[in-house]
Amino acid sequence: MSRSITYDEKRGILRLDTRNTTYAIGITDGLYLGHLFYGPHLPEEDFSVRSAFQRPLSALENKKEMCIFMDSFNFEYPGWGVGDSREGAIRVRDSKGITRTNLLYQGHRISSAKTLIPGLPSTFGGEGDVETLEVDLQDPDTGLFVTLFYSVFAECDVIARRVEIRNTGKEKLVIERALSMSMDMPGRDREGRSFQLMTFYGIWAREFTKDIRPLGFGKTGVSSIVGKTNNRNQPFLGLLSEGATQYSGEVYGMNFLYSGNFASTVEKIFSGDLRVSMGIHPEGFSWTLEPGEVFYTPEAVMTYSDEGISGMTHHFHDMFRKHLIRGKYKDSKRPILINNWEATYFDFDTKKLLDIAKTAHDCGIEMLVMDDGWFGRRNDPDSSLGDWFVNEEKLPGGLKYLSDELEKMGMKFGIWFEPEMVSPDSDLYRAHPDWAITVPGREAALSRNQLVLDVSRADVRDYIIESITKVLSSAKIAYVKWDMNRHLSDLFSAELPPERQGELMHRYVLGVYDLQERLLKAFPDLLLENCSSGGARFDPGMLYYSPQIWTSDDTDAYERIRIQEGAATLYPLSCLGAHVSICPNHVTGRVVPFETRGHVALAGTFGYELDITVLSDEEKELIKKQVKLFHRFNDLIRNGDYYRMHSYQDNRLFDCYGVASKDKSEMLLTMLHVMNQPCCPSRWIHIHGLAPDKLYRITEVKDEPEDSNHASLDGSEAAKASAQEILAHGSTLSNMGINLPCRTGDFMSVLYHIVEVKDAGESVEG
Ligand code: DGJ
Repeated sequence: MSRSITYDEKRGILRLDTRNTTYAIGITDGLYLGHLFYGPHLPEEDFSVRSAFQRPLSALENKKEMCIFMDSFNFEYPGWGVGDSREGAIRVRDSKGITRTNLLYQGHRISSAKTLIPGLPSTFGGEGDVETLEVDLQDPDTGLFVTLFYSVFAECDVIARRVEIRNTGKEKLVIERALSMSMDMPGRDREGRSFQLMTFYGIWAREFTKDIRPLGFGKTGVSSIVGKTNNRNQPFLGLLSEGATQYSGEVYGMNFLYSGNFASTVEKIFSGDLRVSMGIHPEGFSWTLEPGEVFYTPEAVMTYSDEGISGMTHHFHDMFRKHLIRGKYKDSKRPILINNWEATYFDFDTKKLLDIAKTAHDCGIEMLVMDDGWFGRRNDPDSSLGDWFVNEEKLPGGLKYLSDELEKMGMKFGIWFEPEMVSPDSDLYRAHPDWAITVPGREAALSRNQLVLDVSRADVRDYIIESITKVLSSAKIAYVKWDMNRHLSDLFSAELPPERQGELMHRYVLGVYDLQERLLKAFPDLLLENCSSGGARFDPGMLYYSPQIWTSDDTDAYERIRIQEGAATLYPLSCLGAHVSICPNHVTGRVVPFETRGHVALAGTFGYELDITVLSDEEKELIKKQVKLFHRFNDLIRNGDYYRMHSYQDNRLFDCYGVASKDKSEMLLTMLHVMNQPCCPSRWIHIHGLAPDKLYRITEVKDEPEDSNHASLDGSEAAKASAQEILAHGSTLSNMGINLPCRTGDFMSVLYHIVEVKDAGESVEG
């Protein structure tokens, strides 16, 4: 097997090759480590350090103009205070207060493995999946020793980057900035088109809104400084050729396996070139490194595709599914759940929950999830967070009785926690006021009437784990929804000395990871779903602990089309928490047909969040049909490749996406006629993602008895298409397209099953 990482000693070039990409690093005279190239796969030995670093000056030859060299050289990991005026990746202060940070190449190692990062989420892979390059850099004037890690996942076209920072000196160092990656690159693609910036912004109930904008000169980017990744910005950065589409143009994507403060920055300099960086937000951050200590940065993942946005999407989906998500549910179907939040909010008891569960079970739903309000004296959001003992007034007999009854019914049981929080009105806060993150003597800002526990402290984490473990051991609990409903503010930890207060935000995130890791160790079969006021902590770091994350509190299917499009651009459908809820929708007041709500939730984990006991018989019949659809298509949806044909977010009229099996033998196509348009009987859809030379049968998915056909290859045929059988090759379906009939009314959706026809007249499905 050819190696992904090679070293050309003569030229001083380190090459990282994936299936379709090449990343190259050069070691120059003066031992500076420079970035040569990242892009499509290049033939071997086609470039030298000399030609790639065609800059006005070389470091050694022109020492009297060192500043100009430093300010224009393509650094692989730029330091601080040595003449480079661009965004630095690392800044370390020594005991004299000096922050000059100058890193020179020392050596490197290549291994056919990847180590996990202590205390942090980490991509993983065995031999054959991944190779790792470690490059050592040293500041000759201090004890600072830095190792850059590049793990190459060749099959996924992804490179994971991280950094270890060591104090090999005799005096302490203070890290003031420690990004996980930096890359200098041209500002234009190979056709001379400027790169544009793609990010995803939002707010509560409006997460994952796509934003594509031209890059002006100077610094721009996205960040969070509130202690979690936040719903305002995804840590992701995309750089797209101007005019790139789903299927054309060059696309660079970077994402960050971290759930706290981040800065994802692009700097466009006078030449039009770019410096892209990603890491822990330096604002307010500092970390004291005693002699002999190591600091581990979180990991960033990057990919390149010259096949447009969908190329990047496929790389990330495969990467996260294979090399990030872990545990029992990594590759398996999740139970269909019904969550009582939108059904009851805080107003429930055992009887109500069992009524919901009974009706749900009759409809084929497999698990009841009891949301907020089961503990302490919590009947509204104002009290009891931290008091993780059952409210027996609501739940007589406790969780044991409830879970036993559910088990008798054949239903699994799941439960909600918000472990990182404490209500001022709680026994926990009264006993340990110093466990909350507040500044002594100053009034702390409440949010949802709650405070954040200082999970940087081991004693606080021990309390949390002990109380959750007690609850989970008291009954048969298969699932935990881990919620987190506020920002961090009023930063102060009673445990940290003054000079280490800048460590709190990162220590907090490490504390969260420690808690989730310990929980999963204690309950390895648990299905964990992370959540933060909806999707306010939806990041790749969280996916290491939970295979699914609640995408948004906005369960309106119409809104979800856009939110899930954004989320699915970066994350596999298997991890998008998606439920069918009641109409008028509680967030928007909108009414969307029940069928459409089901179709939209199918493109996620799929579940329900409504009072099923008050639904009509007709609606319950619809649930049974949706459950059947889930069982029929979930393997395909979880494991397949996601293709976006049209975006309602862009065209404001309709949405269309498909999930194709890896072998391209089938696709489930979802067509959402969002806004009805007069005199528009049908729409042409070019279907991407099928094999050009395979013959397919296209069938509208009807619940029963038999699927019938509604698609036509010819616009004039649309009206009578239902009677016809549609057969076409993949090439025809992508080049000519298919004419799909519109539906009368708004928010109408249709599923089409496209199945390879192996022998004349026979489809794979049989
Ligand atoms: C916010 C979550 O996003 C909701 O789903 C629900 O669990 C509430 N918190 C409960 O307080």
